[in-house]
Amino acid sequence: MPNNTVKKTIYFLTNNIHKYEEVKPIAEKYGFQIEMCNDAEKMEIQSNDLLEIAKYAALHAYAKIGKPLMVEDAGLFVHALNGFPGPYSSYVFKTIGYQGILKLLEDTEERKASFRSAVVLIHEPFIITCIGETTGYITTSPRGNRGFGFDPIFVPNDSSKTFAEMTINEKNMFSHRAKAVECAFKKLRKMTELGLKTGISNSIDDK
Ligand code: IMP
Repeated sequence: MPNNTVKKTIYFLTNNIHKYEEVKPIAEKYGFQIEMCNDAEKMEIQSNDLLEIAKYAALHAYAKIGKPLMVEDAGLFVHALNGFPGPYSSYVFKTIGYQGILKLLEDTEERKASFRSAVVLIHEPFIITCIGETTGYITTSPRGNRGFGFDPIFVPNDSSKTFAEMTINEKNMFSHRAKAVECAFKKLRKMTELGLKTGISNSIDDK
């Protein structure tokens, strides 16, 4: 007898345990289990476009492992800095950290910022892409000790807490990543239900 409770696996190309923990409950809701897949093979092209970066990495990884997989690329876009660090968030975090961003905004009252996430999910015969965005503001000092990256300095709209003060469930109610991942699984379910034989989905906002 086949075991119907066995979930299908999607390999998530990341070394970031926090991202894995955020994505896991969303995938489970849609009947998938997520397995972290070492991103040593992750090909990072230089681009101003998060989705281009994620697409390239996903196709490159798929050519190697040939299994259902997901790539997610995110960045913090600070309005007063004309969208910096954006696609360069990883490098900026490694070099100047969130303290560096606070310093750059020291004399600025304009604190508006947004996080964006680009997800590419390859599940034959589908290649699904989604963007998630969360707008909020940059605090004047760090708060909270959960999460990762710029979490301690970002407060999403309609919240008084930084991402670093939230549990994973709370962060998932607001986050750019949760929006993009949720969108990707919804599209996968819809395309599968429609019995489509192939598909490349690019739209940002269809639910
Ligand atoms: P990545 O390329 O998707 O790993 O993201 C680039 C950088 O953006 C990371 O190194 C983090 O510093 C930052 N970042 C991405 N997503 C988040 C988030 O959800 N919270 C805080 N920082 C994030």
